[in-house]
Amino acid sequence: MSKMNVAVIGAGAIGRTHIELAQRHDAVRLAAIADPSDSARALAKAQGLPWYADHREMLDTARPDAAIVATPNATHVAVAIDCMERGIPVLVEKPIADTVEEARALCAAAKRAGLPLLVGHHRRHNPIIRKAREIVNAGRLGKPVTATVMATFLKPDSYFDVDWRRKPGGGPVLINLIHEIDLLRVLLGEIESLQAIRSNNARGFAVEDTTAVMLRFRNGALGTITLSDATAAPWNWDLAAGESEHYPRQNVNTHFISGTEASLTLPGLEFWNYRERRGWHDPLTAECTALHRGNPYIEQLRHFRAVVDGSEAPVCSGLDAMRTLEATLAVHTSADSGQTVVFED
Ligand SMILES: NC(=O)c1ccc[n+]([C@@H]2O[C@H](COP(=O)([O-])OP(=O)(O)OC[C@H]3O[C@@H](n4cnc5c(N)ncnc54)[C@H](O)[C@@H]3O)[C@@H](O)[C@H]2O)c1
Repeated sequence: MSKMNVAVIGAGAIGRTHIELAQRHDAVRLAAIADPSDSARALAKAQGLPWYADHREMLDTARPDAAIVATPNATHVAVAIDCMERGIPVLVEKPIADTVEEARALCAAAKRAGLPLLVGHHRRHNPIIRKAREIVNAGRLGKPVTATVMATFLKPDSYFDVDWRRKPGGGPVLINLIHEIDLLRVLLGEIESLQAIRSNNARGFAVEDTTAVMLRFRNGALGTITLSDATAAPWNWDLAAGESEHYPRQNVNTHFISGTEASLTLPGLEFWNYRERRGWHDPLTAECTALHRGNPYIEQLRHFRAVVDGSEAPVCSGLDAMRTLEATLAVHTSADSGQTVVFED
């Protein structure tokens, strides 16, 4: 199978991960980098890669088969549309856009161009989550009843040296919670409604540092997510799941899904049920599936190539990512208004 020529637009934190993986991936060849920053230029020079300050010039000159858009959120839609207008399919980083309206415009542009659109909710490619989904979908939990998610961690003080991170919009709801909402949608399906409260009490910046969310799913299950980036705590997916070497791994569970017949933890994939009599006076048995390891970013790149080939449908399409964005933005709407936000079918 020949390698697909892929360009990376935006060579910041996550762009560099894509660049590094694309350079040693079986399915793709890194064709070019587009990013106006001096650091991106220096990176390209050091690695002997074609570099462009302007992504349009790169698209017209390097003519890649596909592009990864890893620029700041506010630019996702415009940059992705520039690619699509040239017939180039994209993997756009999460969130798909800043607003639902913009996300809808991007989905419409992909449809007009007749191109697939993949959104970088990378956790969906993690074997742990795939296994958990298989267990839930096979009905092994019985009827799903509750989901409890812990997303408590500590961003270092230096993180807040950057001005926008201290202001509304730069906080953990849009940056981190979106992954939890997407994960719960993958496991439990669509959200019917949610309520949220929010606080900036730990740091005192204008931006939130802590949020509590209550969710009702269309399948009848209820969920809660506790989120804070100001807590010295191990209970968060990044530390627990070992997806990236940047985070020292902690041997804890962070997601707890309970049904009428059994419960499941993630990332540990412990499956708890009653083998004989059922009830809280009787012993529960825990069965532990061997931890499924695998780098979701590598699998995402393989999948991207298959999506561009037309041999696989996007694991996270534009419309799917738009629903995750809509629910995440609703956390702020609910916290602002004190009201429950109900989603349309
Ligand atoms: N899926 C994940 O695990 C994950 C992790 C981190 C970030 N992200 C997402 O990736 C995106 C980038 O985040 P980041 O943390 O890497 O940001 P970053 O600020 O580290 O990097 C962004 C880069 O884009 C460049 N850039 C800005 N405008 C550009 C343009 N028009 N053309 C080309 N380059 C441009 C900047 O110079 C910078 O180098 C965000 O949308 C973020 O939500 C996803």
